[in-house]
Amino acid sequence: MSWSISMEQPLTLNPLLDGVKESATLAINQKVAKFRAQGQSIIHFGFGQSPFPVASEIKQALIEHAGNKHYLQGEGLAQLRHTISSYFQQHFDYHYKEEDVFIAPGSKEALFDCLYCLEGPLLLPSPSWVSYKPQAMLLGKEIYPIQTQFDNNYCLQANELEMACQQFDINQQKLLILNSPNNPTGLVYSQETLNELVSVCQKYNIIVISDEIYAGTEFNGTNHGSIAHAYPQRTIVTSGVSKYFSAGGYRLGFCLIPTELNELKNALRAVISETYSCVSSPIQYAALKAYTDSPKLNEHLTKCTKLHEIAGNYLHQRFIAMGLACQKPQGGFYLMPDFRNFKEQFKARNIFTDINLCNAILEIAGVAMLPGSEFGMNQDMLSVRVASVDYDGIKALDALDKSPQDVVNVAMPNLIEGCDRLAQFLTD
Ligand SMILES: Cc1ncc(COP(=O)(O)O)c(C=O)c1O
Repeated sequence: MSWSISMEQPLTLNPLLDGVKESATLAINQKVAKFRAQGQSIIHFGFGQSPFPVASEIKQALIEHAGNKHYLQGEGLAQLRHTISSYFQQHFDYHYKEEDVFIAPGSKEALFDCLYCLEGPLLLPSPSWVSYKPQAMLLGKEIYPIQTQFDNNYCLQANELEMACQQFDINQQKLLILNSPNNPTGLVYSQETLNELVSVCQKYNIIVISDEIYAGTEFNGTNHGSIAHAYPQRTIVTSGVSKYFSAGGYRLGFCLIPTELNELKNALRAVISETYSCVSSPIQYAALKAYTDSPKLNEHLTKCTKLHEIAGNYLHQRFIAMGLACQKPQGGFYLMPDFRNFKEQFKARNIFTDINLCNAILEIAGVAMLPGSEFGMNQDMLSVRVASVDYDGIKALDALDKSPQDVVNVAMPNLIEGCDRLAQFLTD
């Protein structure tokens, strides 16, 4: 009797889930898959996954360690932590040591766990990556968005940060997430802008999480700016193998935590031991290979970045030609154009928000994109996030000896088709 009564009770969920839904990037992917299954031709500018294969030496390391079934230390394999600290020292001139590296199942988890452990409101530049805000919501954190400007390449400026901080007690600990190269904009912070942020961070007791998951994909080569250079004592860097090494599904990320934040390390150790225990052992050995420099691997990675640049530049040039406002991408594989010049024209087509716009473009033109409002932009700014990776990475690598335009012609036909369809949509 009591059994059947309890079955009828409504399920009560954690109220912190209110307003948190499945991530927009995964949702658009499913929508595209559904349309494609119905036989519709869809160009996918919505999902940002590297199109390139995982380098053969990394795959080989994974195969060789498939039999390694042991739990590892929660923070990660000592050899991997050491190798990552050397890699970041050598490539980016960081000074994090082996004991500063914490391996996680993706940098997304590392970010979440750091946010969980750290007290204080989250200052969040807009636009920014889709998951920061929901993560903070799940943790019941106060979120303070800071709108950045197109003319500043959507990079947070010191005066904007200072104004935001004035809403809080000066001494209260605050958290700030910076992300460069940036998703959704494809833009990169200059070291100068980052240096200017430091005095505000010092004055207002800010701990920075510097999301560097796209580190290495800068189009200008080795020039990787980071606030960690100017504010090392209170910057946590997150990164991983998903983007630069094209291995998102391996689920391996990490955070670098300076000695000055040792208490956070103890807290993380506890969280790791009570949640995921450790990251898959064979995957940690594969990552060890990724962060062990080899000329062959570096050559492969340089080619992949070159192709991101070719794809990004092609889309940028087409967007400008069709009248969109768009900054030229500088790294990663995204662009964030907006349709401000079409506002009046769109009113007649009942398009008032970026959501109306993305739905219309998907239904009429068969091109999938994400609304900028998913990244914290106002809906009436009509901005969209475009991923430049709807092409066959292996074919593109084979074509790389050709001119950039020929690479696009030969290996990136969906980029051409997507732009043709968008241009048509705008002239209809
Ligand atoms: C800006 C940004 N940060 C973090 C992540 C998470 O990466 P992962 O969890 O695969 O390391 C992503 C993934 O798309 C991203 O775009």
